[in-house]
Amino acid sequence: MLFKLVTTLSLLLWICKADDVLKNNGQFPRNFMFGAASSAYQIEGAWNEDGKGLSTWDHFVRRTPSPVVDNTTGDVACDSYRRWKEDVKLVADLGVQSYRFSISWPRILPSGYDKHVNEKGLEFYKQLVQEIIKHGMVPVATIFHWDLPQFLFDNGLDWTNEELINVFVRYARFVIKNLPEVGYWITINEPRVHCRRSYGDGLHAPGVSDDGIGDYKCTYNILKAHAAVYRMYKREFPRYKAKMGMVVDCQWYEPASNRPEDVEAAERHYQFECGMYLHPIFQGDWPPLVKYRVAERSRREGYTKSRLPSFTAEEVKFMRGTQDFLGVNHYSTTSVSNVQEASYNETRFAHDIRVSINRKLNWEVSFLGWGVVPTGVRRLLNLFKERYNDPDVMFTEIGVADDGTTLRDDIRIRYFRSYFCNILEAMQVDKVSVVGIIPWSAMDSFEWHRGYEARFGFYAIDFENDPQLLRRPKMSVNYYKSIVESKRLHCNTAVSVWNDKEIL
Ligand code: NOJ
Repeated sequence: MLFKLVTTLSLLLWICKADDVLKNNGQFPRNFMFGAASSAYQIEGAWNEDGKGLSTWDHFVRRTPSPVVDNTTGDVACDSYRRWKEDVKLVADLGVQSYRFSISWPRILPSGYDKHVNEKGLEFYKQLVQEIIKHGMVPVATIFHWDLPQFLFDNGLDWTNEELINVFVRYARFVIKNLPEVGYWITINEPRVHCRRSYGDGLHAPGVSDDGIGDYKCTYNILKAHAAVYRMYKREFPRYKAKMGMVVDCQWYEPASNRPEDVEAAERHYQFECGMYLHPIFQGDWPPLVKYRVAERSRREGYTKSRLPSFTAEEVKFMRGTQDFLGVNHYSTTSVSNVQEASYNETRFAHDIRVSINRKLNWEVSFLGWGVVPTGVRRLLNLFKERYNDPDVMFTEIGVADDGTTLRDDIRIRYFRSYFCNILEAMQVDKVSVVGIIPWSAMDSFEWHRGYEARFGFYAIDFENDPQLLRRPKMSVNYYKSIVESKRLHCNTAVSVWNDKEIL
């Protein structure tokens, strides 16, 4: 007992060393925007109802054997297509200022083309937006959250084909025009995950495996599509107030050691995952490191040109500055070490990036094996400030998974507390501009190829046993509510120091 007390006290003393304790006052600005997020395929269900066209996901989940770990689908998911009112209310009950949702392209335009409109689908999103506004929240709408119309894919129009860009711009124009009350437009969600999983390793719909080639073509086209939509929006909708941006997924990439090769590996990891999307949007072109490495490996692998398509001078100009805010989905931190150059006999994205990722021993690990490392978020914010000229950052996703067995989601409370405290520290001490936090996710939902095994929601749903799909609040609901209402939390005891000595 005595031993325990002494150990605890000395731990506390060590933790509270002046420069380890967070210095922020725990107060978010009055106009700070909190929210909760979701996406169409993950929650809506009603996959073939009311005139909806099929998406590549509707097809993909029907493959045999199933590409989804627990053989499930998003056919019903949370049934939010029917329960949208209840769901908007649940989000509003959190006390938040915004609800992020996505629009299913084939629900509105069943073939993907804007020549045939599914009025019922359009009506669904019109009502959804109205309902969000009615509850005093800002609608944050994602135009593309990975559910491409299957008809387009069947006709050769996927993200590896440049021709999809125009079709996408027409779809975007149509939804923007019809949903004038949206407060924030997100053109594309996590293009990296989408391009890697859908056209690189094939783990996501439409399941194309073209590692180190298809994924780069997708990245190139999707970036140009984002820029085209942004330019169209600014040109054609000058009276609209909504801000527009793309959402990138950026984790923090911590060198495994301070050996120069590990430090370089961490930088490579950052550039290949995050810089590859942010650099074009902010500067107009690929990060030089990425451009050089892919060109060099392509040459040695025997290609006549780089597997990474290049942007023309005109495209660079067109793309530069196509964001009103930096939307980021951040979850975790990885420890990165260098690996040897792989043989040139094989083309793989992994050989281009050339890193090995791991976790440090003192990191808490969540259900998906993701490290809970709150200091990473502060470092990432500082890096954004330094590299992209102090942008307004909005966390369009941030969160942690549980395994769905309990409503006592202590890990989520610890996670939010320590991450939010580090965000506040970055805002107040490092003077980084953060305008909002929209955690993932409003409720448990279909987690892509992982099915229903990972639960990110504030509200739990028992997909296996409860045909009613009752939404039950987890413990984190009250915690989040208390932060959102007061815009305040207690950070002085949230021990999450800058130098990773101790992680809450
Ligand atoms: C990223 C994606 O945008 C979302 O669809 C997914 O469910 C979460 N992160 C969690 O993996």
